[in-house]
Amino acid sequence: MHLWVNMQTRTDKMDRIVNLAKRRGFVFPASEIYDSPGAIYDFGPLGVLLKNNIKAAWWQRFVQRREDIVPIDTAIITRREVLAASGHETSFTDPLVECRICHQRFRADEEIPPAGDHEHELTEPKQFNLMFKTSLGPTEEGSILAYLRPETAQGMFTNFGSILDTARVKVPFGIAQIGKSFRNEITTGRWLFRLREFEIAEIEYFVKPGTDEGWFATWLQEWEAFFTDLGVAAENLRRYEHPKESLAHYSKRTVDLQYDFPYGWNELAGVANRSDYDLQQHQRLSGRDLTYFDEGEGRKYHPYVIEPTMGIERAMLAFLVDAYREYPGGRAQRGEDRELESVLHLDPRLAPITVAVLPLVRRERLPDIAREITAELRGAWFVHYDENGSIGRRYRRYDEIGTPWCVTVDSQTQRDETVTVRDRDSMGQERVRITELKGYIAPRLETVVQTRAPSSAH
Ligand code: GAP
Repeated sequence: MHLWVNMQTRTDKMDRIVNLAKRRGFVFPASEIYDSPGAIYDFGPLGVLLKNNIKAAWWQRFVQRREDIVPIDTAIITRREVLAASGHETSFTDPLVECRICHQRFRADEEIPPAGDHEHELTEPKQFNLMFKTSLGPTEEGSILAYLRPETAQGMFTNFGSILDTARVKVPFGIAQIGKSFRNEITTGRWLFRLREFEIAEIEYFVKPGTDEGWFATWLQEWEAFFTDLGVAAENLRRYEHPKESLAHYSKRTVDLQYDFPYGWNELAGVANRSDYDLQQHQRLSGRDLTYFDEGEGRKYHPYVIEPTMGIERAMLAFLVDAYREYPGGRAQRGEDRELESVLHLDPRLAPITVAVLPLVRRERLPDIAREITAELRGAWFVHYDENGSIGRRYRRYDEIGTPWCVTVDSQTQRDETVTVRDRDSMGQERVRITELKGYIAPRLETVVQTRAPSSAH
């Protein structure tokens, strides 16, 4: 009973997060005016900024700041041969069952929700391939069968030779990519958790065989640190080691990084040891040499691949859930009969709007000064100007979307060219000279990102 009540409370809270995301323009169901098909979403003005900030933090940490990783952007439409060689055409399946009475379809390997008015009568499970098919060419005959890629990884393997030829890389090195992936999921309905169209951020990290287990441990730590450095509470993360029987067809070992989602603990990201499976397969089926010549060892081999991976929307969901707090009765003025206040305590680097500039009143020169400050700060960050409503109401509006700082222009500003900077989390206010505003905010956006240099110990 206690567990159920707890679960119910969490799903109610989740409903309020989904509602906030829609009401404030983070996430909208796709094609909604024609009734959304579900599990496909559009990202509104604040959502696209949050998503871009997550991708930028990832890119900065794992590509820009590292010497051993090169970026790539490969095509979404993938000819059949690639995904046949990788094993996806035969093995990228989930077991599907259908109720003979209500014709709803479910994954046989997941808990099946009961129907209100009947006992499900389920068919035998059959393997359902999750890839979306398409064809290239203007005619049916002679067209080439292709798929929308179900993961970004394969483009990094098929380009392995081109990267070796052009990027002057030496094992150990990685290829990194962020891009759209598509899966025709059987069960949906958990908002951003399981989508049909989503973005994956992943690295294929090529290492000398025999050093793969050490690199696996390093990447698992790196992957966890990405989330904790951006504010996710460590107690909401745990590792899950896949038993041998549940490993994907390409994997020698996989550990999921799970998050305590409102729906329960589930995969947020993962690290897999793909061994030399993909390079071997592509070499065998394309006939191209995909070996690496190790100068130090004076021999050729197929490197092993450690693959850290994460879904951007799933990361977005975890960041939102982790940052969301509710304050019944409000935070600011205790004792007053206020509505429930919600605050997104997002890391400032992820916040969609970094600063809101607010003239205290719409009188004298305050709006003009606030507009000048807005224009100045916009050179560096996303900044809103807002003159509507009481100052308390405006603070709450920006707390709700996670804006870390509100800059208020008041009558003192006209006398001494200072403004107040109000902190979202502490609600503390400091008087800062207008000319020093950028210098006040910038260092607070540059904290903590540190990457471990690749260790030579492996
Ligand atoms: N290349 C390996 C690979 O694609 P995966 O575990 O199937 O591994 C990678 O997917 C990540 O993408 C997962 O850790 C998860 O965060 C995210 N993901 C997977 N399926 C998803 C879906 N249907 N909707 C949203 N995110 C998904």
